[in-house]
Amino acid sequence: MVKKIEKIFVKTYGCQMNVFDSDRITDSLIDFGIRKVKEPQWSDLILLNTCHIREKAAEKVYSELGRFKKIKRENPEIKIGVIGCVAQAEGQEIMRRAEIVDMVLGPQVYHRLPEIIKRIQDGERVVDTDFTLEDKFEKLEHSKHVKRQPAAFLTVQEGCDKFCSFCVVPYTRGAEASRSPEVLFKEAKELVTSGVRELTLLGQNVNAYQAPRKSGGLLDLAGLIKEICTISDLKRLRFITSHPRDMTIDLIKLFGEEEKLMPYLHLPIQSGSDRILKRMNRGHTVRAYIETIDRLREIRSDIAISSDFIVGFPGETEEDFSLTLDICDKIRYAQAYSFKYSPRAGTPAYERADLPEEIKVKRLMRLQEKLQIHQSQFQTNLVETVQEILIEKHGKFSNQYLGRSPYMNPVVITSREDIIGKIIKVRIVSSNGLSLFGEPVT
Ligand code: SAH
Ligand code: SF4
Ligand code: F3S
Repeated sequence: MVKKIEKIFVKTYGCQMNVFDSDRITDSLIDFGIRKVKEPQWSDLILLNTCHIREKAAEKVYSELGRFKKIKRENPEIKIGVIGCVAQAEGQEIMRRAEIVDMVLGPQVYHRLPEIIKRIQDGERVVDTDFTLEDKFEKLEHSKHVKRQPAAFLTVQEGCDKFCSFCVVPYTRGAEASRSPEVLFKEAKELVTSGVRELTLLGQNVNAYQAPRKSGGLLDLAGLIKEICTISDLKRLRFITSHPRDMTIDLIKLFGEEEKLMPYLHLPIQSGSDRILKRMNRGHTVRAYIETIDRLREIRSDIAISSDFIVGFPGETEEDFSLTLDICDKIRYAQAYSFKYSPRAGTPAYERADLPEEIKVKRLMRLQEKLQIHQSQFQTNLVETVQEILIEKHGKFSNQYLGRSPYMNPVVITSREDIIGKIIKVRIVSSNGLSLFGEPVT
């Protein structure tokens, strides 16, 4: 007798796209009689949704699999699947190195899961790393049986054609593909009906979104946002991650026109040196980036800008690095993520001489120190102001709630009423550099 797969445990690494994929998988499997459990040992199927962006990604997966091996020893009927970007990059190699693995699936075949789960249930080992042309999410529908959090993600675009010289994403996620506007509108509506008040549109290059409409013509991200904002119970909208090359005038203008579009933009620059940007194949200059930010600020002076940075890229001199520090002083980021360059096999930069680790570590520390000062200042500037906060969930203590400002700052609030899902006016009373603390204005 084969053991039927009825309980699934999913562990997720990596970006919001992976988080969205994992949620959508567990969500859609409900309709196939499979429910999510909180511990791997309670499940019939363990899925590891993996990320390949920086070093030791694959090694982390193998060590995690080592831990699952113990669980499988105690309960040999548990099946194990590796999905996501490491699965795409390693494929068959995972099966060879880890015999406990029953399936390896790349990010573009998740809609085949119901059928693949049946096959592994019958004892087959399955590897599928196709880049299909179908929209996986159309077959991996949101279940109607799940209560949603007030803030949710919706993937509108996937993949990347930019080929930055350091990055694995074009190889793990495939070519840029945009989802149909009609399907997205329907899904956004369903999410709002089930309680969502803030949507974040997701894409590896979300502002490269471009898709044909049924009624004719092409719709870009600005057009898509306008349509989604017509859903009346949707109160807020954001989008992430944008590429500086695809920041169109229409999209910039929207920050001054569409009230529901929040004043926050994640626009990664990676480096403040044109020489390095060129070697990274980013396709824009520092000047063009600054012009974009200037335009945005003319239209929406309070807009919060965030970025990603890579320090210690091959060939980065002290002079190049100081230009990165300069751009931070110029833009004054509200928030930022920064990483040491990590050579990735298969990318063009992999062949170039890597800088010594000590240099990378020191530069990262110097950059993070500066970014932290600006982030704290941005938060401090909000103290004593009144902000509209969307309350997302309960905090650690009773009567405590967690929400977000229009600028994405986490805000801690105390209230006797149940305010989850509401947008309330809050006086910000203090900041600890990471979170803000506030009181509802009565
Ligand atoms: N599409 C987005 C980024 C996706 S990857 C963009 O173009 O900005 C998220 C971040 O990881 C990147 O912005 C970059 O800062 C970082 N990253 C990607 N590859 C890296 C590498 N090889 N080493 C270090 N950081 C890297
Ligand atoms: Fe990677 Fe560059 Fe594409 Fe971003 S734009 S996903 S950094 S290749
Ligand atoms: Fe990682 Fe893949 Fe996202 S490599 S960052 S999970 S697209």
